[in-house]
Amino acid sequence: MKAARISEYGGPEVITIEEIAEPSIEPHQVLVEVRAASINPFDGKIRSGAMKDYIPLTLPITLGGDIAGVVKEVGSDVTGFAVGDEVYGQANAVSGSSGGFAEVAAAAAANLSTKPSNVNFEEAASLVLVGASALQAINEHIKLQPGQKLFVHGGAGGIGTIAIQVAKQIGAHVATTATGSGIDVVKALGVDEVIDYKTEDFSTKLVEYDAVFDTVGGDDFAKSLEILKKSGIAVTMAAQPDEDKAAELGVTAIAQMTKTDTEVLDSLRELVEAQIVTAQIDKTFPLDQIAEAFETKENSSVNGKIVITIS
Ligand SMILES: NC(=O)c1ccc[n+]([C@@H]2O[C@H](COP(=O)([O-])OP(=O)(O)OC[C@H]3O[C@@H](n4cnc5c(N)ncnc54)[C@H](OP(=O)(O)O)[C@@H]3O)[C@@H](O)[C@H]2O)c1
Repeated sequence: MKAARISEYGGPEVITIEEIAEPSIEPHQVLVEVRAASINPFDGKIRSGAMKDYIPLTLPITLGGDIAGVVKEVGSDVTGFAVGDEVYGQANAVSGSSGGFAEVAAAAAANLSTKPSNVNFEEAASLVLVGASALQAINEHIKLQPGQKLFVHGGAGGIGTIAIQVAKQIGAHVATTATGSGIDVVKALGVDEVIDYKTEDFSTKLVEYDAVFDTVGGDDFAKSLEILKKSGIAVTMAAQPDEDKAAELGVTAIAQMTKTDTEVLDSLRELVEAQIVTAQIDKTFPLDQIAEAFETKENSSVNGKIVITIS
């Protein structure tokens, strides 16, 4: 089978498409014929070596996490999946699976669920990590209520585009940051207020917010605490919360580690099938052009997701 692999850390040029043996499965895993996969910033961080001190890996590995495909074989301990089922989920090598950018992947059953029936494999693969991240933040941490004010920092990105849809369905007032073509993308998703992050400072425009969902990180996360009302909550995907500043302001600030498990993927499927959440795909590339796909993701403006079509 073909797989997109790295034998050294570096830019997109270190990725090679190799012919390797299909993975075998462990009792808790499912073998998936991968039809489509999607790129997350994490895949680029693994490839570049940015994570190597925290997640030491023995190279070579097959890159990739988010997948959608068809079950080919089921491990002896696995219940709930059968050969021929259409599934979506994660197959990250860093979590003990075999890697998603491949024609076949061995993935833990605990990180898979039934694919939403009303979307194709590309759309399903685009939704996995970003959908799980948005649902975990909004439902588990923020517990967003109708009428509350939520600021989504980075609204045109993978997570941001899903978070806006979920928050609008709940009935929240949603403000977000975007720029260029991303402004039209977030307006089409129904945001109430868009701030162009290249020309305006959100922290001078937004006041008394109930919650912040930060997908950008850096110094902006500390700044975003200032727009919260007392007892407000800020969840970041990409920064280290400043606990002292949060305590001073009387707000909660937490960093989220997303769990992409069957339960959250089941909830996501319900929202997709109810047409509350729609996939936001910017561009699609074949597996052979995956280096170009990473190049595009990392060096141009991408709204929503980049998807890799596999078979
Ligand atoms: N902790 C976890 O478990 C976990 C899980 C998933 C993701 N993450 C992290 O969460 C972050 C977001 O993930 P994602 O998949 O949504 O990434 P993404 O698709 O790359 O989206 C990021 C968005 O942020 C926008 N942006 C960049 N700089 C900005 C600024 N200064 N102000 C406002 N917006 C800005 C980008 O817009 P432009 O296109 O205009 O640059 C893009 O739309 C990444 O760092 C990722 O690694 C963490």
